[in-house]
Amino acid sequence: MTAAAPHHAADKLCRLLSEMTGQIVSEGRRWRIESSLRPLLRARDLPSLDALIAAIERDPHGPLAVQAVDAMLNHESSFFRDIGVFRTIEQSVLPRIREGAHDKLLRIWCAGASTGQEAYSLAMMLKRMGPVWDDWRISIHATDVSPAAIEMARQGRYAQMDVQRGLPINELLRWFTATGDDWQLSREIRDMVTFSVDNLLDPHRISGLFDLILCRNVLLYFPDETKRAAVASLAAFARPGTYLVLGAGEMIAGLGSRFVSCRDLNCIYIADRRADPARADRCAGEALAG
Ligand SMILES: C[S@@+](CC[C@H](N)C(=O)[O-])C[C@H]1O[C@@H](n2cnc3c(N)ncnc32)[C@H](O)[C@@H]1O
Repeated sequence: MTAAAPHHAADKLCRLLSEMTGQIVSEGRRWRIESSLRPLLRARDLPSLDALIAAIERDPHGPLAVQAVDAMLNHESSFFRDIGVFRTIEQSVLPRIREGAHDKLLRIWCAGASTGQEAYSLAMMLKRMGPVWDDWRISIHATDVSPAAIEMARQGRYAQMDVQRGLPINELLRWFTATGDDWQLSREIRDMVTFSVDNLLDPHRISGLFDLILCRNVLLYFPDETKRAAVASLAAFARPGTYLVLGAGEMIAGLGSRFVSCRDLNCIYIADRRADPARADRCAGEALAG
């Protein structure tokens, strides 16, 4: 093998990741590629990244390509991640949605939901809010491009380390049962969320319009053009007044999207009333100021 070979293999893997998910790996994070793929190399008895590339090239649409991409994705998540945002959703966004609703149906989409903590945090929050939602139909749909992450999410079984990060003890005791070294989330909460494997850049498993869309810590690794396409995908499932929640530090200003920032609330955007974007901007300020 030449000295340049590992770099060449890493380039090809980055290209594969980008083609399948839109995500790019910055130069500074390239070194991580080999370490994230090491378990897959070991499991498949492959001696190197070159051997992995060769195997993928023999079957470009096979499971190995999906597994390699999966291993390169960042699936970092936790319950009630960035708790301030969840408080804002509970205290400002959801009451606003309830107030403006024409029917008692609440539809939420978590795009890039990883292993399920975000969607399940919303489900637990809605339960905690109690009787206000009693006569509502609630649908929380969570999608991710990663089949492995969605499978874990569906199982709702989390390691001790996962339930120690951000999950209040009363929610842990109320909704989880200790199972060996892990914690199993109750059927009642799991039944509130549906999951599907879907690419945000080309969604096939999503239909209808949502009241609230979360897409947090996903846009971070998209180049601007891809970010624009991703936000257009989200906008296709938003009606005027739909709320969009992004991750801390994720900006969509200048991408020409339908979503305008809610001035007083970090990370929250609202889909404009197409005919009058200025009004949407005012709504964003007024609606959530209180
Ligand atoms: C860092 S995790 C964020 C999880 C969760 N939203 C949160 O903030 O805790 C990003 C997730 O986005 C998913 N993802 C990346 N590109 C995607 C795409 N094109 N379509 C759907 N999901 C994608 C990854 O698989 C990963 O699980």
